[in-house]
Amino acid sequence: MILEVENLRVEFAIDGRRSIPVNGVSFSVPKGARVALVGESGCGKTLTALAVGSLVDRAKVAGGIKLHGKISYIFQNPMQSLDPVMRVGNQIMEGMDASLPSSRRKEFSQELLEAVGLPRALARRYPCELSGGQQQRVMIASALAQNPQMLVADEPTTALDVTTQKEVLDLIDRVASERKMAVLLITHNLGLVSRYSSYVNVMYAGKIVESGEVKSVLASPRHPYTKGLIAAVPRIDAPQDAPLVDIPGTVPPPWAWPQGCAFHPRCPNALPECSSENFTICRYLTGNQQF
Ligand SMILES: Nc1ncnc2c1ncn2[C@@H]1O[C@H](COP(=O)(O)OP(=O)(O)O)[C@@H](O)[C@H]1O
Ligand code: SF4
Ligand SMILES: [Mg+2]
Repeated sequence: MILEVENLRVEFAIDGRRSIPVNGVSFSVPKGARVALVGESGCGKTLTALAVGSLVDRAKVAGGIKLHGKISYIFQNPMQSLDPVMRVGNQIMEGMDASLPSSRRKEFSQELLEAVGLPRALARRYPCELSGGQQQRVMIASALAQNPQMLVADEPTTALDVTTQKEVLDLIDRVASERKMAVLLITHNLGLVSRYSSYVNVMYAGKIVESGEVKSVLASPRHPYTKGLIAAVPRIDAPQDAPLVDIPGTVPPPWAWPQGCAFHPRCPNALPECSSENFTICRYLTGNQQF
């Protein structure tokens, strides 16, 4: 394993109000594997990923995190992560081992630009001179500069158009294979999970509600939230007059997550016991499917 997370909990206290956006999350990432963390916005995916790298400020973080290697991040919006007044090449060099001679670092930064499909000469440009897709490629090159064993790609293509999205994800997939890196792909898009991951963890309201091999989870989802996410993926082969399916409502903020199964106000299969304080596990996950 490159990463083992056991019962992770992230707690904030804001204005005296307690909020636990990540509450009992366990999952692992085998070496070189492609693992996805999927769920709607506000479910705690980003906080989970940040906590793994000890990057959460002003929070009480509890649970076990065993990271057996270096980890690098690629975030959704490259312009927020790139320094607008620093040349691209220098930004890539920043992540490198400082003990390397600067000539070697410069050469390596240009090699990385090539590896992500950009010309070496781009090293002298500033981020604002690049397109969104090029900026995200620079972010990937910066992440690779640290020679990580695991790449966390947090909604890496949400800000990009669909064609660029595919190019960037194919690129992440290729460089990860070449470097035998694991990838933790964080997304709200199950379509991307089926293409780029082999294992999936479905997250709702600070918890992983279902996990397993992508093929089996997508073919036979058990948890009603997973079923809802799958039904919500638009299908190109659907009849034109077929209604767009959606999960009713939205994810509430963590301080308002309901007691029992947090999904119960939105779940088409909810029963009175789902909202009980004694609730432990969704009946669809127990193998005892009575309904
Ligand atoms: N630093 C923070 N302080 C307090 N609440 C936060 C902080 N960061 C995120 N949250 C809250 O935690 C919840 C989960 O956030 P996040 O992990 O970003 O979700 P996701 O990535 O799944 O969209 C959100 O409701 C968000 O507002
Ligand atoms: S526990 Fe109940 S409310 Fe929650 S997902 Fe299962 S059936 Fe739905
Ligand atoms: Mg997020």
